[in-house]
Amino acid sequence: MPVIPALSHLVAEANLAPSVHNTQPTRWRRLEDGAILVLEDGTRRLHVGDPGGRDAAVSHGAAIEGLSLACAKRGWSVRVTTATDPPDDALRPVARLELADGAAPDPLAHFVATRRTYRGRFAGGDPAALDGFEVMPDVAVVRDRDGVAGLAELNDQAGLRSFRNAAFRAELLSWMRLSRRDPRWHLDGLNAEAMEMSSFEAACAGLVLRRGMFEAFDRLGVARTLVADAAVVRSALAVLLFHRPADEDPISTGRRFHRLWLEITAAGLTAAPMTVLADDGAASAQIKAAHRIGSERRLITAFRVGRAPPRRLSPKPRLPAAQLVLTPASADERWRAGGT
Ligand SMILES: Cc1cc2nc3c(=O)[nH]c(=O)nc-3n(C[C@H](O)[C@H](O)[C@H](O)COP(=O)(O)O)c2cc1C
Repeated sequence: MPVIPALSHLVAEANLAPSVHNTQPTRWRRLEDGAILVLEDGTRRLHVGDPGGRDAAVSHGAAIEGLSLACAKRGWSVRVTTATDPPDDALRPVARLELADGAAPDPLAHFVATRRTYRGRFAGGDPAALDGFEVMPDVAVVRDRDGVAGLAELNDQAGLRSFRNAAFRAELLSWMRLSRRDPRWHLDGLNAEAMEMSSFEAACAGLVLRRGMFEAFDRLGVARTLVADAAVVRSALAVLLFHRPADEDPISTGRRFHRLWLEITAAGLTAAPMTVLADDGAASAQIKAAHRIGSERRLITAFRVGRAPPRRLSPKPRLPAAQLVLTPASADERWRAGGT
């Protein structure tokens, strides 16, 4: 096994991976035998939006792929096995990684730093950039305007259904960083800039999503308009329906999720997932039927893709790597503290 000089360098690169609501739930610990234990920080779970923890597990898979890409740059390969260590409430072992010398360079490693979610209106895009996705067995490309408009409509309908759940909104709000004065603006969650909101729009969103307010707007029949995203979705060059075997473990799904997004970046496109289309049973069933995605497949998400207008990019909000790398001592302390 190669000698890893500083796990925090690898982890900082791995943590550029996508994670649901930017919760960054993955933690890392070096074991005495040189392997790396991957753990879930249970305090980052979305108990309402992701009750089964599948999106968290997909996020771990994306982070593991991120670590694998960071290792490939250094000539190391990564073997991923199931962790057998006992779980505790706050830190649940997810996987065990063994590094070895001799990885081939991975061309996607080049795009890790530039991949990011773009939630604004697209400025066109080259349709030829989609050709490579047409031949992927786990992607259905929707590029006709009616097809994209239909998905935009379904996305708004499914989005409204989830926004009608006050607990879902409260959880989402707890991860939204609506003002630059928020001390977590640069650290995690969804800040107004990443959501493509002006400070005025962000303040309004904070009000509209509050318990009582949203219900009042809904009674007036305007709630849907306030949370609608259809115009943005319709500006997409295409929507990529990402589907995987229904019985695939979510860690493997997450690894592919990250790689697909890097391939989108490599093709010169930007993307935003619309996971509500996969999580909402009615929307998912309708999409699978319309696009001939078989019952043995699971719709994971739908990426709207296109070209982002040129813009100034701030660094992505991320936790410092030092907080993600756990020493055995800090793990014990967490355990003794009852997982806080
Ligand atoms: C499993 C999963 C589901 C996601 N679903 C959505 C989504 O429905 N809408 C969205 O805007 N972003 C979604 N994202 C993107 C994350 O919000 C994003 O990766 C995170 O905020 C970090 O930002 P970055 O992608 O720019 O690094 C999802 C990411 C993951 C891993």
